[in-house]
Amino acid sequence: MTPGVRPLIAGNWKMHGSLSEARALAGAVAEGKVQGAELLVCPPFPYLLPVQGALAGSTVALGAQDCHAAAKGAHTGDISAPMLKDCGAGFVILGHSERRADHGEDDAAVRAKAEAVLAEGLVPVVCVGESEAQRLSGEAEAVVAGQLAGSLPEGFAQAHGVVAYEPVWAIGTGRTPTEDDIAAMHARIRAELAARFGAAGGTLRILYGGSVKPGNAKAILALPHVDGALVGGASLVAADFLAIASAV
Ligand code: 13P
Repeated sequence: MTPGVRPLIAGNWKMHGSLSEARALAGAVAEGKVQGAELLVCPPFPYLLPVQGALAGSTVALGAQDCHAAAKGAHTGDISAPMLKDCGAGFVILGHSERRADHGEDDAAVRAKAEAVLAEGLVPVVCVGESEAQRLSGEAEAVVAGQLAGSLPEGFAQAHGVVAYEPVWAIGTGRTPTEDDIAAMHARIRAELAARFGAAGGTLRILYGGSVKPGNAKAILALPHVDGALVGGASLVAADFLAIASAV
């Protein structure tokens, strides 16, 4: 944890659940009344409005999982940042490795999307992380530093942008890096943010993501420069998500 920084525990629901499940999950998270961490849930696009309703009156924030780089236009099937803002989203996850893999999003595309998010006054949550091959060949830190340089727009720090370090090989696998490896990567990310954004980079939140569960959350969240978590599978079970948030 970075001193003085309010941790963020974010749930990335990915393409899971039904409308009724989304409502119920959001309602249960809203009732959790977690102290000490900010909570964020990121449902699939069609569930943003009903989840916003289920969160009404709570302090749990709402986010989306992607957006288009343009504010409007002829882009069939896409969703713009102004639309997300209209639906109550305060955060937008960008550059998740599943989008980089499924949709060929590169750093320049992620940066353009982040600029669109900043233009609406929303907070980008930019994901970075190495593949297993890159980890094994000792390139992990260089890869992540390159992704940060290419994906983060100017203005990221003023908007209190969030970075999520998600090693691709730890997502949905039950495997995590060692605590030393997580701490080393977060220290490197902090150094990159400070070099680019100065003092403001010192307090931006850096989340860890990849097989975070109630059983490993406390140890991971206690590491220096780990300012929260981006949770996939465990965020679909309210009790698990709340247990992770309570481990801060
Ligand atoms: P898991 O927690 O299921 O490993 O997913 C992590 C993730 O991709 C969050 O964005």
